[in-house]
Amino acid sequence: MATIARHFEDLYGRKPEVIAEAPGRVNLIGEHIDYSEGFVLPFAIADRTYAAIAARADGLVRIASHQRRERIFTIDINDVKPGSKGDWEKYVLGVIWSLGVTQGVDILVDGTVPAGAGLSSSAALECSVAVALNELFWLDISLPDLARATQKAENDYVGMPCGIMDQSVSLMGQVGSALLLDCRDLTTESIPFDVASSGLELLIIDTQAHHALVDGGYAERRADCDSVVAKLQIPSMRHLTLEALEAARSQISETEFIRARHAVTEIARVMDAVKALRTSDFVTLGKLINESHNSLRDDYAVSCPELDVAVDASLAAGALGSRMVGGGFGGSAIALVKQEDIEKVKSAVTSAFEAKRFKKPRFFTSLPSAGASASRC
Ligand code: GLA
Repeated sequence: MATIARHFEDLYGRKPEVIAEAPGRVNLIGEHIDYSEGFVLPFAIADRTYAAIAARADGLVRIASHQRRERIFTIDINDVKPGSKGDWEKYVLGVIWSLGVTQGVDILVDGTVPAGAGLSSSAALECSVAVALNELFWLDISLPDLARATQKAENDYVGMPCGIMDQSVSLMGQVGSALLLDCRDLTTESIPFDVASSGLELLIIDTQAHHALVDGGYAERRADCDSVVAKLQIPSMRHLTLEALEAARSQISETEFIRARHAVTEIARVMDAVKALRTSDFVTLGKLINESHNSLRDDYAVSCPELDVAVDASLAAGALGSRMVGGGFGGSAIALVKQEDIEKVKSAVTSAFEAKRFKKPRFFTSLPSAGASASRC
């Protein structure tokens, strides 16, 4: 906090007025169902993005990142609209635009959420800026509305058709708990997630793989779900049961059928995972995590060789459960592992990656941490 304030002052020659922070996330279970009005069970990780910010009177928006050597990007507030110039700065500009800010600002961001690892560094960036602006301009916007605004920024300004899970958990995550989020109305319930007292750890495995399919594949999956919903004349996948899906099989394509099967079964797995967590039944949780991966790999087809190898090697080395997390086609996997098996799992995954000549994987672990916050300097 103190460091970003100092960097801000060095860069802009003035003090910041507000400093905000927002975390990345890991999703325990409930993948690719946030845009289908499903339930998801993510938690906020300890790694976060910081945003230092101050208002300007001349209508200029200046943006810099400490990690990107503080090159200052400048744009007039009147030009902040979709299609504007900007590279990663669009995540920041999108939030300024979606919150309807009309005044200029100086912004400096910094952070520790690894980019490209599927841990939602983009949501952390958007949410840190959103809570900073909310505080700076006394906007008084609720957390669910900030989640909607940041999702809109990513959908309509950046052009990535993401759902609402990442932004919601970055804003509303709770220390020690996973967040059961109803993506239909953004109501939440904290589900205590204390693996450590059961001698377990949640290992995050960054495969360092990024496949070209990421954007196109994500949009295609969403389109398949939209098509099923339109053909079956239901409001969303949430309204579908396995029986109804089987009965309607002839009305949809085979691909649509398996995509929908993932959505229906994944929503059920989230609810079962909540029950398992409530009774500290980590064996059942592990099984549900495995079933989720199989469904994402086989029915939803969003896994990739690196993720499958990470999952298979973890399970072979004793993990209770393991699956890919996030959008897929690369990024990270998680493994629920007994503390005494952590090193064994890490070295099994590393050797399996070496044997396949994949990039060297990176390992993280994180306890459920707090959501975004902002304070005046
Ligand atoms: C990405 C998106 C989320 C969600 C996940 C898959 O992280 O940003 O909205 O759809 O993929 O669960």
